[in-house]
Amino acid sequence: MELLVEKICCIGAGYVGGPTMAIIADKCPNILINVVDINEERIAAWNDSNLDKLPIYEPGLKEVIKRCRNRNLFFSNLVKENISNADMIFISVNTPTKTKGIGAGQASDLKWIEASARQIGKYGKGKTIVVEKSTLPVKTAQIIKSILLSSNKPQELKNEDDKSFYILSNPEFLAEGSAIDDLENPDRVLIGGENNDAISALKKIYLNWVSEDKILTTDLWSSELSKLIANAFLAQRVSSINSISALCESTNANINEVSRAIGMDSRIGKYFLNAGPGFGGSCFKKDILNLIYICNHYGINEVASYWEKVIEINNWQQNRIVKIILDKLFGNIAGKKIAIFGFAFKANTNDTRESPAISICKGLIEEGSILSIYDPKVQIDQIKKDLELYPFKENSSHNDGFWEFSNSTYEAAVNSDAIVILSEWNEFSEINYDLLINKMRKPSWIFDTRNTVNIDKAKKSGFKIWSLGNGNLN
Ligand code: NAD
Ligand code: UDX
Repeated sequence: MELLVEKICCIGAGYVGGPTMAIIADKCPNILINVVDINEERIAAWNDSNLDKLPIYEPGLKEVIKRCRNRNLFFSNLVKENISNADMIFISVNTPTKTKGIGAGQASDLKWIEASARQIGKYGKGKTIVVEKSTLPVKTAQIIKSILLSSNKPQELKNEDDKSFYILSNPEFLAEGSAIDDLENPDRVLIGGENNDAISALKKIYLNWVSEDKILTTDLWSSELSKLIANAFLAQRVSSINSISALCESTNANINEVSRAIGMDSRIGKYFLNAGPGFGGSCFKKDILNLIYICNHYGINEVASYWEKVIEINNWQQNRIVKIILDKLFGNIAGKKIAIFGFAFKANTNDTRESPAISICKGLIEEGSILSIYDPKVQIDQIKKDLELYPFKENSSHNDGFWEFSNSTYEAAVNSDAIVILSEWNEFSEINYDLLINKMRKPSWIFDTRNTVNIDKAKKSGFKIWSLGNGNLN
C-alpha cells in the first residue's frame, strides 16, 4: 500500500529542523511543510522579513528560505493544528544531556521527545509516519511507539495492528556551517524502520534530489546506533590529532605536516585531522556521553572507559591552552588585555554550544585577564549567557578578570598584550598584521589554536607566535 505524503509537520525549528525542512521544501514544491516550535521568539525570527535576522546563521540558508517561505514552507507555534493535519511528522527537538536524576551528566534527556510523542499520540490523525530526526539513544523508537499506542486516541486506532503510526529513524548528519551543502549533497541518507511502505514514503521524498545508491535502509536500532557511532568516531579523530599536537610541540614536529602525511594514506583519509582547541558543538560530547551511558547500562564498562578518554583529552586540550598562554605571558595575565578572535565552536556558525572558547575564556578571566571578544556572528547576549558574567565590570580591582565585546578584530586588539584565535573564520587569516600590531602593547603575542596565521608575515610584522602543534616555533 502506498502511503501518500502531501503534508509534513516538523516539531522543532532549531539548527536541524529549520534547514532540513527548508531543503525538503525547496526540493519538493508539492509537499506542504509546517515547522512548529513552542519557542515564540524563535518562530518570529524564522518569519522575520529581514533575512539577516533568521535565528541561525548558516551559509546559503537565507536564499533557500527566500524561495520557499510562505510558498510551501511555514513556521508557526501552531503545534496541535499542524500535527493533526500531517501525513508525516519529523521530531527534531533537542535531546541534551540530563542535568539531574538517574544518568545525570551522561544519559540523554528525553523529556522533549516524550512531550512531542504525547502530542502526536493525542492529535495525530492516524496512519501517520513519525520520523525520529533528533539523535536518540538506541531503542527510543520503542518508547515513542509505546507512548503513541497508549495515547488518548479513538479505540479503533489503539490496536497496534491498525498501524496508525509508523515509526522511522532518519538521523541527520549535517554539520553546522555547511548544513545546506550537506543536506543537498549528503554522503548518505539513513532510514531505519520496520514497515516497508513507510520506508518507501520517506525514501520517495529524498529521491527528489539524492541518488538511490546513497539511501540506506536498515532496522530501527542499527539506524539509531549508527548516528551515535558516527559522531563518536569523528570526535575520536579530533581527540587523536589533538593529543598528537601536544607531542609535536615537545618534539620539534609540526602537526600540519603530520596530518598531511597520515591523511594521504587512503585507509586513514584526510578529513577531520585538523588539530584545534578541542571539539565543541551540541553533538559530539552529548552523543559520546550517551554512548558511555548505554555501554555502562549493558555492563560493557571497558568500552565505556575507552570512549571516556575521548572526552578527557578534549577537556585537557582546552586547559592546556590556558596554561600555555599564562606561561608565555610571564606567568601573569592579571590586568592584561587579551583579544579573543572567534567565540563560536567553529567558523561559519553563530552556535556557541560547548564551544572551547567558553572554558578557555573562563580560564583566562579566572586568572584576572581582561578579554576583548570578537566573533563575526556571535552576539553579546550569547557570550554573556555562556560566560555567566556581564561584560565590563566597573570598579573592578586589578586582579578581577572581566570581558568586553568588540565589533572587529582591530577594535579588540587595541592595547592588548595578546591575540588568541579560537575559531577559524576566514577573516582571521586575512588580517593586516602591521595594522594590528601597531594597536597592541609589546611584546605582542598571537596564540593560534587553529593554524590560520601566516607565520612568516606575522613574524615580519614583529609578532611573537605560538601555534598549536608547531614544535619548531613554540
Ligand atoms: P535546537 O535546540 O536548536 O532545536 C530544538 C527545538 O525544538 C527548539 O527550538 C525547541 O524549542 C523545540 N522544541 C522542544 N520541545 C518541543 C515541543 N514539545 N514542541 C515543539 N517544539 C519543541 O536543537 P538542534 O541543534 O536542532 O538539534 C535537534 C536534534 O538534532 C538533537 O537531537 C541533536 O542531537 C540532533 N542533531 C543536531 C545537529 C546539529 O548540528 N545541531 C546535527 C545532527 C543532529
Ligand atoms: C557534527 C558532525 O560532523 C555532524 O555529522 C553531526 O550531524 C553533528 O555533529 P558539527 O558539530 O556541526 O557536526 O561540526 P563538526 O564540523 O563536526 O565539528 C565539530 C567540532 O570539531 C568543532 O568544534 C570543530 O572545530 C572540531 N573539529 C572538526 C576539529 O577540531 N578538527 C577537525 O578536523 C574537525
